[in-house]
Amino acid sequence: MEILISEEQLRARIIALGEQITEDYRGRPLTIVAVLVGSVVALADLIRQVTIPHRVALLQTSSYRGKTTLPTDLAVNSAFDPDVKGRDVLLLDDILDTGHTLKRVMDDMANRGALSVRTMVLLRKLGRQQVSLEPDYVGFEIPDRFVVGYGLDYNDDYRHLPYVAILPG
Ligand code: XMP
Repeated sequence: MEILISEEQLRARIIALGEQITEDYRGRPLTIVAVLVGSVVALADLIRQVTIPHRVALLQTSSYRGKTTLPTDLAVNSAFDPDVKGRDVLLLDDILDTGHTLKRVMDDMANRGALSVRTMVLLRKLGRQQVSLEPDYVGFEIPDRFVVGYGLDYNDDYRHLPYVAILPG
């Protein structure tokens, strides 16, 4: 498999973003809300670089199965009910593709009474976005290829790879 982003590149970028988030949210009631499952590796690495007190929560949307997500397919799973009322929410997702997922969960956080909602994506796929939305923190911009590793899967495989790779074929 062709490595697109190495372990070293991922580590350096997460450290830089963690420092930036630490400065931006100093003195504020920050909750980092990660979208399952793809962002869990980035979450674990990121929160250890955010050195101000903060909370961590998870949420889940209907799963992506290799096709473009349609807004109507997306539901936020109420089994994960983060209490974000009056808190500054930083949503973390693995990849910004069409943008439907992030838009859907941003609206959900606002409806739950978040004080503010910002977004971070590890990866932003270029030329795919359908929703106008500018993520506040971006790890890497990548070409329009299907990628796996560092949390991202193909049919639930490859999440454990310590780098981001392009799936052949
Ligand atoms: P949207 O289109 O809602 O999609 O922005 C975001 C979700 O789509 C999945 N996705 C991928 N997953 N490799 C993956 O493993 C990819 O290249 C890819 N592109 C999109 C992912 O679940 C993301 O949260």
